Amino acid sequence: MISRSILACYPFAVLLLAAAAAAGSIDENFNPTWGGYRAKILNNGELLTLSLDRGSGSGFQSKKQYLYGKIDMQLKLVPGNSAGTVTAYYLSSVGYAHDEIDLEFLGNLSGDPYVLHTNVFTQGKGNREQQFYLWFDPTLDFHTYSILWNPQGIIFSVDGTPIRHFRNLERTHGVPFPKSQPMWIYSSLWNADQWATRGGLVKTDWSKAPFIASYRKFDASSACVWSSYTSTSSCTPSGRAPWMSQTLDMAGLQRMRWVQKNYMIYNYCTDYHRFPQGLPPECTAA
Ligand SMILES: *[C@@H]1O[C@H](CO)[C@@H](O)[C@H](O)[C@H]1NC(C)=O
Repeated sequence: MISRSILACYPFAVLLLAAAAAAGSIDENFNPTWGGYRAKILNNGELLTLSLDRGSGSGFQSKKQYLYGKIDMQLKLVPGNSAGTVTAYYLSSVGYAHDEIDLEFLGNLSGDPYVLHTNVFTQGKGNREQQFYLWFDPTLDFHTYSILWNPQGIIFSVDGTPIRHFRNLERTHGVPFPKSQPMWIYSSLWNADQWATRGGLVKTDWSKAPFIASYRKFDASSACVWSSYTSTSSCTPSGRAPWMSQTLDMAGLQRMRWVQKNYMIYNYCTDYHRFPQGLPPECTAA
């Protein structure tokens, strides 16, 4: 407790305290967008919760757009019986020929594993799904989910462990890469029991509602913020931030291989039935 007399003597201290109180990373960077009271910002702007009940799900959107960035968020997923629910957390440029980087967490019955579904859309085309189980229970604690998006590629990481790498193969293999459309960050919690859990076999148990997912510690402090007024981003591909030129090093590659060997449950790059004409070029590039 700071006494009033000290604050009176040091008006700048009041300003500093006010600034600290307002500096909730969630509050500063996101707006609830749908679901009304179901999207809540708590703890001085440090925590956001989304909830889902029979009436509606809910969602939020970033205030800013980004064109490249290293973006971290901590999520704690719907606990207990979350079957039928989907917690989506993604970057998207929206609209025609959009680019998108997707993480979707498919809920499950208590004790059965969540599925982390990932996808990358470029120029409106996705069909690049990879799915994983996690090596921990994502409902017990917050874990950090990161997107590193730079001109070299896109790396998805969980608690610092890379799980997926989408390389920029635009020049060498003609695979479009997201490089010119700024993206918003979105999240939503919704009912997808038509397909989410065991392909739609397990339905949402509404007696367990409301379902709640939580978010905190958003960090895009060094990401490139897009200004639609000037059509420029706050950094350029030649910018100095170290993450701008970061790729997977040998240690990262080894850890990603460990995840993919032990926890990957679907990979479009090995789905020969789906691509009888041949796998997409990014799958076969050396
Ligand atoms: C739910 O659990 C079942 C049984 O372990 C598993 O087959 C499935 O992949 C899990 N996840 C989803 C989203 O269905």
